Amino acid sequence: MQSQMTAQEIRQKFKEFFESKKHVILPSVSLVTSDEKGVTDTTLFNSAGMQPLIPYLLGKKHPSGTRLASVQKCLRTVDIDDVGDNTHATFFEMLGNWSFGDYFKKEAIEWSFEFLTSKEYGLGLDPRRLFVTVFEGDDNAPRDDESFEIWKNIFAHAGVSGERIYFMSADENWWSAGDNGPCGPDTEMFYDLTGILNDGMTKADFLVANKLQQIVEIWNDVFMEYEKHDGKVVGKLPQRNVDTGAGLERLSMIMQNTRDLFEVDLFADMMNLASKIAIEKKSQKIIADHIRTSIFVIGDGVLPSNTDRGYVLRRLLRRAIFHTEKKDISTEAVHDFVASVAVTYSQTYPEIKNKTEIIERAINEEVEKFKKTFPQGLKTLATIKKYFDENPDKDTKEEISGKDAFHLSSVLGFPIEMTIDFARENNMSVNIDEFFEEQKQHQNLSRAGAEQKFKGGLASTDEMSVRLHTATHLLHQALRDVLGEHVEQKGSNITPERLRFDFSHTQKMTDEEKSKVEKIVNEKILAKIPVKKILLPKVQAEKTGARHLFGEKYGDEVSIYFVGDTLQNAYSKEFCGGPHVQNTSELGHFKIIKEEAVSAGVRRIKATVLV
Ligand code: GLY
Repeated sequence: MQSQMTAQEIRQKFKEFFESKKHVILPSVSLVTSDEKGVTDTTLFNSAGMQPLIPYLLGKKHPSGTRLASVQKCLRTVDIDDVGDNTHATFFEMLGNWSFGDYFKKEAIEWSFEFLTSKEYGLGLDPRRLFVTVFEGDDNAPRDDESFEIWKNIFAHAGVSGERIYFMSADENWWSAGDNGPCGPDTEMFYDLTGILNDGMTKADFLVANKLQQIVEIWNDVFMEYEKHDGKVVGKLPQRNVDTGAGLERLSMIMQNTRDLFEVDLFADMMNLASKIAIEKKSQKIIADHIRTSIFVIGDGVLPSNTDRGYVLRRLLRRAIFHTEKKDISTEAVHDFVASVAVTYSQTYPEIKNKTEIIERAINEEVEKFKKTFPQGLKTLATIKKYFDENPDKDTKEEISGKDAFHLSSVLGFPIEMTIDFARENNMSVNIDEFFEEQKQHQNLSRAGAEQKFKGGLASTDEMSVRLHTATHLLHQALRDVLGEHVEQKGSNITPERLRFDFSHTQKMTDEEKSKVEKIVNEKILAKIPVKKILLPKVQAEKTGARHLFGEKYGDEVSIYFVGDTLQNAYSKEFCGGPHVQNTSELGHFKIIKEEAVSAGVRRIKATVLV
């Protein structure tokens, strides 16, 4: 067992090691990527230490020379679904060293190995617990035999079997920070967390061990000599570069003899706090991770919003809240989390300590905002789940439709990831393709109004109310169809989230009756029926058979809204002032949320349309 090391000691060792190899140590820059053209136009946050250095990898001269190293704050959301396991986090610190047209494969690999294994200058890891992968070659670049030979030599000297080196495809061993920019084949180092894995594992065994988190990737050396545009290699760079990356949290995990990232010193306090607001370990990890990341993101000047970086932050915070037991994070808890990060990182990132008030305020405001729509979102999800629970024999897959998922995200503020989480935990799935289709359609619609950009696709409350108003008319008629002519409107109330309709009926509606009503309304929606208005003198209007409230005073001239081509063949007609949609196709998917009693002989339905 190697000696224990704190994260701070690892940072320090790394800097000293590469300084001794003539590297200049750069400070970490902000998580927020530079908007300067050519630096990055593909990611919102720095996702690797190389990202702020892209112009220099492309050939620009760096004022500090050709050998640099840094410990850089990074954020990656690609693995967000994996957070909660033992090795993934959204925020992490990356140790990296670079050569801009200076040293290449030999030195890079030898130094990585030396830092990992040297007892005196590095981490002192056991070389016999290492595994290595190298690039197997494809149309873009040949097999990396040079790296393979370098590793074979190093391993032979250290008494490690050459069988621990695997050739892998570009999926595993080709690296770039996005679809554009410098890239190249890489060689990756893995560490056996169990200490019992043997030489002679096949490639398949190796991949399984990785999946089972028995081994973990700890270092990546990228040999950047190529350039990509729109995902395709377009040629070689003017110089051969080295770009390396190693995750501090993962190294800490190994140096602190744990197989769980969330047990390292950097997370200890956060996990303790998370355990007070969530029971399940997985939820605790998600909370600790997402709040830590949010604190750093706000610390770098981002606030929650519905677009770009602000949306990433919003998603992280809402997802964290979603995983708490009470679906809430108190201001005291927020204070403790922020204080904990400020203390843990006081030496490395003092900006957190200087901004605790701003950070706390931003998180508290987001918690408050989310609490407004959150219960409705949970109810919608519960309704969907209940539907599947009660209809287990249905041919339909237990799938949350893209429409529902989109409604949850655009109207009720449930980031899609949360809906996916919910689905997974309840043995359901989400129709993601349909969700993105909905989102795309909606984006096309929203593009019309410039102010929509800032709403980021939030349906206007007005539009929703109009939809729900027309849906109320359809519901009214459908209830009469299913339950009988005794059904009369007793009250109606509409908010942007739902309609509420009170009507005369004595019994609780059965599930079958509710399904029938939903089905009828949805059929009328799918039939794309026009909604029209006609003004008529009151006496004539009464003769049309249009529904109106008894005892209500109407003027001499009344407007009737009807759903149909003509007043005669209309499915629904009502005395009403409007406004309504122009065609039922604008409504979205109709769903009953609840049916309950209001008073003797009066029932109430709450329903919504999932747009
Ligand atoms: N830039 C190398 C890595 O992120 O692995």
